[in-house]
Parts: sequence; C-alpha cells; structure tokens
Amino acid sequence: MATTQEYGLGEFDFPRGWFVVAEAKEATNKPIPMRYFGRDLILYRGQKSGKPVVMDAYCPHMKTHLAKNESSYVVMDGKHTEGDDIRCPYHGWKFGPDGKCNEIPYSPAPIPKAAKIRSYPVQEWGGFVLIWHDEEEGEPDFQPHPLPEWDDPKWVNWKVDHLGVLPCHPQEVIDNIMDKAHLGPIHGSMDMESFESVIEDHVVRQILAAGHRTLSDDILTNDTWYTGPGLLMSKMLGYYNSLMLVAHTPVEDGTTRAWHALMVEPPNMPMTKEDEEAVAAYQEGSKMALMQDFDVWKHKAPCIQIMQVIGDGPFNKVRQWYKQFFNPRKDVKMYQEKANGKWVGKGTKRDPWPEAAE
Ligand code: FES
Ligand SMILES: [Fe+2]
Repeated sequence: MATTQEYGLGEFDFPRGWFVVAEAKEATNKPIPMRYFGRDLILYRGQKSGKPVVMDAYCPHMKTHLAKNESSYVVMDGKHTEGDDIRCPYHGWKFGPDGKCNEIPYSPAPIPKAAKIRSYPVQEWGGFVLIWHDEEEGEPDFQPHPLPEWDDPKWVNWKVDHLGVLPCHPQEVIDNIMDKAHLGPIHGSMDMESFESVIEDHVVRQILAAGHRTLSDDILTNDTWYTGPGLLMSKMLGYYNSLMLVAHTPVEDGTTRAWHALMVEPPNMPMTKEDEEAVAAYQEGSKMALMQDFDVWKHKAPCIQIMQVIGDGPFNKVRQWYKQFFNPRKDVKMYQEKANGKWVGKGTKRDPWPEAAE
C-alpha cells in the first residue's frame, strides 16, 4: 500500500469529484456511520425532503459520534432525526442538513457560528448515493454522466455488487483504463482490432474493438470512460446492449472501496425466460471480468513508476490526467491541457507494427 504523496499526485491526499458512498436504499431515517476519505461520516435520509444527507460524524459541542448510539433517550424516543434535521444523542443539539446547528435545547440564543458540521453535496444517481468530495469545499464543477437508461423501461436496472475494500490506492485501478496489454492475459481479448484512448478535461475514455475468448467470436466494441476520478462506465453494444458501472471511493489514503453493477437492454420486453437467464449471466460475467483485475490488485505491490515499453497504453497520460483531482482548482486547466489528447494503440489489426504491415 502506498499513499497519494508517494505516488506524487498533488497537494491533496484525496481527490475532488463525485463518489459513491452507499446504495440509495441504505439511506433511511436511522443515521448510519461510514468511513471514506480518511474521515468518519454519517448518512441518513431527511424525512421532510426525502433527500439523503451526508456529513462529518462528530458533534462540534463535545465530539460525540452522531450515528453511534442506541441508548440515549434522544434515540430511544425517536428524536434522533426530525424532519431533515439530526439531533446529537449526548446533549440534544440539533443540526440541519447544511450542518448548521439550529437548536440548543437548554441554552439561550444566539447559537455560536462555529456550531457547524461539514456537510457534503449529495445526489441520488442510478440507485446510489453520491457525494461531492472537495478539499477546497467548493461547489461541483462537473456532473456524473447522465443515466437515461435508469428510467427507461426497456432497460433492466442493475443489482449492485459490493466488492469490499481493496488494499491499494485508486491509482492502481485508474491505470487499468489505459492498460492495453493486460486485456489478452487477464480478460481473454483476442485479435485486437483497435485500441484508442481519449482524454478530454475530466473525462478519460478507452475504445476497444476485439474478439473475446469466451464471450464471442465476433469483434465486440466497448466504449469505456471515467467521468471524474470515481465513476467508470462501459457500454457494450450487441444482441444485448449493456451498460456497466465500476465505482470506487478512497477509504484511507491508500485503500479503495469498490462497487460493480450492470444494466442490460434485452431484445424483448417483457423478457422471455431465455432473456432473463441471459441478463443474469451478463451481470455475472461482467463481475467475473472485473474480479480478474481484482485478483491482481489485491496482491500487487504499489507501482510508483511504471516500466513503460512499446505496446503498453499511454499510462503516463492517465496518471497526468488523475493529478487534476488532487490539486487546487486554480491549476485544473493546466493539468487538463497537459493530459488532453488522443492516442491510437499500435500493435492492433487496424494499426499493426510497421514490420507486420509489410
Ligand atoms: S456533544 Fe453533541 S450536543 Fe453535546
Ligand atoms: Fe481490466
């Protein structure tokens, strides 16, 4: 395990962006503890607005953990959350979803300005709770990729696979999007037709056209992209169109929690028995493919410097791209300009090595 500083990514230990912290169904009016970005956090759902709330876990009064209590009368009397607010189990201070204290039950006004908890911008997206993490605490400067498939009745919504915590920095996972040479050994790609990488500001994309040892004899085209540092999606067109999500969020500096999910558009709706089986097999197959990467990530040592050879993808470019999220906003443009571009992987059918072309 290595830290952000050891990878030389930038000023901040944790990246800026939208990150999955839970499934939407985990957000109820009972606050739960979470840990991400090296911090203790809490999650609950406001009863009035129906919106999830994520804030730091500790009360500014005397640092009580807001979600770890079962025996206070505040909790036992059902007063832990009220409307969109949360009440501290220790002395009953009450906080709004913006984290500001709005009631100290036993003390005359005014409420001290410092009686405030850090609260995070939140949205529900594809059945997940996303938070905007930003060391500078600014407003979001990009959005997750739109997800019209989620509301489209022609698509079967995903079931989420919780993949647990990987003992490696997300840098090792990010590298994968440029990793042309692992596709054969790990995923069984064959007869690579083409491999292209495109970086445009906060988005990095891979377009792969190749056969697959077990999935298909035909050439499959996969369009795979990150929108920011935490949300990877992949679209595969075929008899069953599918859309995969891999979400990953730092837990400590050097560890990563991950989720997998896959939506499918079956050719018939309502589905035939065959479609139902195929959809389940698709989700399982897609998860298995990701587990092949996990098998490596779980046990590898940190790679601070890649020994890049001809035929590898442009790792240096994606590492450059990743830095924009670890540095102050004023420098984002500079990092983007250094990383933006398009690369065509050589050693494929469309772009063979010069010798092979003769
Ligand atoms: S510690 Fe939270 S109200 Fe006192
Ligand atoms: Fe992979």
